[in-house]
Amino acid sequence: MAVMEQPSSPVQAEKKVLYSETIPIQDVDADNHSLVESIERLEQENRMISHTLSKLEEESGLLRELFNNANRELASMKKPALLVAEVVNCQGENKAIIKLPNGNRFFCHIAQEVKELQSGDCVLIDQKTLNVVEKAAIATSLDVEKFIILEKPTESWEMIGGLSKEIEEITEVIELPLKKPKLFEKVGIQPPKGILLHGPPGTGKTLLAKAVAKSTEATFIEVVGSELVQKFIGEGAKLVKDIFNLAKSKAPAIIFIDEIDAVAALRMEHGLSGEREVNRTFMQLLAEIDGFDNLGNVKVIAATNRIDILDNAIIRPGRLDRLIEVNLPDEQGRTEILKIHTKNMNLRKVKLKELAAEMVDFSGADIKAVCTEAGYCAIREQREYVTPQDFRQAIEKVRCECDEEEGEELFG
Ligand SMILES: Nc1ncnc2c1ncn2[C@@H]1O[C@H](COP(=O)(O)OP(=O)(O)OP(=O)(O)O)[C@@H](O)[C@H]1O
Ligand SMILES: [Mg+2]
Repeated sequence: MAVMEQPSSPVQAEKKVLYSETIPIQDVDADNHSLVESIERLEQENRMISHTLSKLEEESGLLRELFNNANRELASMKKPALLVAEVVNCQGENKAIIKLPNGNRFFCHIAQEVKELQSGDCVLIDQKTLNVVEKAAIATSLDVEKFIILEKPTESWEMIGGLSKEIEEITEVIELPLKKPKLFEKVGIQPPKGILLHGPPGTGKTLLAKAVAKSTEATFIEVVGSELVQKFIGEGAKLVKDIFNLAKSKAPAIIFIDEIDAVAALRMEHGLSGEREVNRTFMQLLAEIDGFDNLGNVKVIAATNRIDILDNAIIRPGRLDRLIEVNLPDEQGRTEILKIHTKNMNLRKVKLKELAAEMVDFSGADIKAVCTEAGYCAIREQREYVTPQDFRQAIEKVRCECDEEEGEELFG
């Protein structure tokens, strides 16, 4: 700090006053310094605020997008649902007869934007006006491939035991016409269009159908009757039509309809809508079977455990008029089936004939289960070979399981 002297004259005193009001340079420096610091702090604060601002702007952009999406979704939800229908035929440029899945037909106007409609196209129609508003991009003929099993089976005749009579009959009815259609033309007879395999579960019906497909090198199209009527409500009849078209395009082909009773059971009344739907599917099936030619290279094999409830219409002459019963195997049959399923097993002192005698009323599937279970008995005892004792235990186990199932069926 500067030491101030006492003034000796008024002028000097004034000078002194002036001098005393002058701010020392150090103070100015300090002020300046604190100002610079404040500016820096403010600048930093400013940077933080702009950073927060840009973050908020980004967030607000996201929220706006979310809002727009939700709005769009809401708007689309408010739109009325459109009906799916099939074009039966076009009447000029802007009118068409369309058919709803329930079979009802309508004469409709076609919206201007919808171009080049053809019979068989799938269209979307407005529920109120019944106008065609859009052509649906549903590949009707390809969709069917998702609903069925399409394969070239690998099961051969050698894998089937005890059914030589049935095999002979199937060969005659299915294989021969597919392989030698000319022979039938020359002799002048029409082979059946298909067969119906019936009998208890697990007796080899599916196996027979697959084996005939393999021996004829035909495409095997497997459809399950209950799925046809349960999974595709309203679409069953159309699906049947598409399945037959697919078979024709993949010929030679075998259409295997398992559990045909689900579609072709005799019904007392046709009043319920579900019943009507099953009935329509059934009618379409009959129409398709009637519609193709006996010597064509598509054959139908149907299977059921419930021939007692079948509608006779399906087995009338010209349809699936060859019935083949596939029964539980007799002792000789059981021995043959045992031979097939133990072919790759490491057996010791096992007499298949004796085992077959013990397996009264066992189906082919039961016998297969016995072989697998006997193998497990050996594995559990850390053996690499299977003994008669393993088989006896397995037979008991499978017999108990069968009895339990029967009991459940009897007492619900
Ligand atoms: N005769 C048989 N010879 C060899 N194996 C058989 C025989 N019958 C059944 N099997 C065995 O049982 C399995 C089931 O048979 P399959 O599916 O053919 O019976 P299914 O008669 O079609 O039965 P479901 O009526 O229940 O459909 C077959 O994969 C096969 O391993
Ligand atoms: Mg089967």
